[in-house]
Amino acid sequence: MEAPRERTAWLQGGGAVCRTPPRAVAQPSRLVLLGPPGVGKGTQAQLLSAHTGACALSTGDIFRIAKSGTVEHPSPAMRTAVACMNRGELVADDIVLSLVHERIRCLTCRGGFLLDGFPRTVAQAEALDQLLQQERLHLDAALCYELPAETILARLTGRRTCRICKAAFHITHHPPKIPGFCDHCGAPLVLRADDEPDAGRVRMAAFLKSTAPLISYYRGHGRIRMIDASGTPDDVFRRTLATLHPTVATR
Ligand code: AP5
Repeated sequence: MEAPRERTAWLQGGGAVCRTPPRAVAQPSRLVLLGPPGVGKGTQAQLLSAHTGACALSTGDIFRIAKSGTVEHPSPAMRTAVACMNRGELVADDIVLSLVHERIRCLTCRGGFLLDGFPRTVAQAEALDQLLQQERLHLDAALCYELPAETILARLTGRRTCRICKAAFHITHHPPKIPGFCDHCGAPLVLRADDEPDAGRVRMAAFLKSTAPLISYYRGHGRIRMIDASGTPDDVFRRTLATLHPTVATR
C-alpha cells in the first residue's frame, strides 16, 4: 500500500502548508466515509487516497496528534476533546466544527477530500453541507460500511497504529513487515487508548446513538452508498470502486 499523504495542513491546522502539493486531477473526488468504529473506514480511505489522489482526512487523527504531546500549547478545548476521545465518547459538535473551519483549505483543495470520521452527527453533516455550498463544491457520495459487531471487535483489538504517520495495521490481517514498526516511516506501532475494550463499547454506543441517524440524513439527500465491509481490504476496495463508478473519476 502507498504511504499516506503527509497532510500537514490537516494535521496541524492554522496556517500550516503541505510540503507536497496535491496531485492535479480533472475531477477531484469528494467523499464522506461512514460506519461503526473499526469497520475499516481508515483502511479504505488510504486505498482510495492512493487511487484518487485525494487526501484521507480523519478528525480522530487531529485529536490523536493533540494527545501525542507534539502540539506545543493545546487549547483547553483541545484538552477536553482528547479526554472525550480516550473515553470513547463523541467530542462536542462546536469543538469539532471549529477544528474543521480552521482547516477549510483542505476541503477546498484541488486534490479533493476523503473525510473519515467527520461528519459524525446530523448537526455536523448540516454544517459540512453549508461549508461546501458556500465554496460552491459538491459532495459526490457518503460511503457507509457495514459489518457484524463480532467481526468489528476482532478488527479493533488487533489494530496497531503508527505513532507518527497514523497508518493502521492488524496483527493478523495486515501485519507490518517488521513486527511492531511501521512499513511506511519505521516509527513504532501502538495500541490506541480508545481501542481498549471499555472505550470500544462506549464508541459503539455513541455510533448507534449519534452517527447512525446520519445514514438516514444522507439517504434523504440521495447520496448514501451502502457497502458490505466483509472480506479482505482488497475485497472491500473492489466493492467500493464498483459502488462509486461512475460517480467518481478514478485514475
Ligand atoms: P476515529 O479515529 O474516527 O475512529 P473511529 O471512527 O472509531 O474509527 P476507527 O479509526 O476506530 O476505525 P476504522 O473504521 O477507521 O477502522 P480501520 O480502517 O482502522 O475517532 C476516534 C475518536 O475521536 C472518536 O471515538 C471520538 O471520540 C473522536 N472523534 C473523531 N471525529 C469526531 C467527530 N467528527 N465528532 C465527534 N467526535 C469525534 O480498521 C480497523 C482494524 O481492522 C485495522 O487494524 C485494520 O488493519 C483492520 N482491517 C480493516 N479492514 C479490514 C478487512 N477488510 N479485513 C481484515 N482486517 C481489516
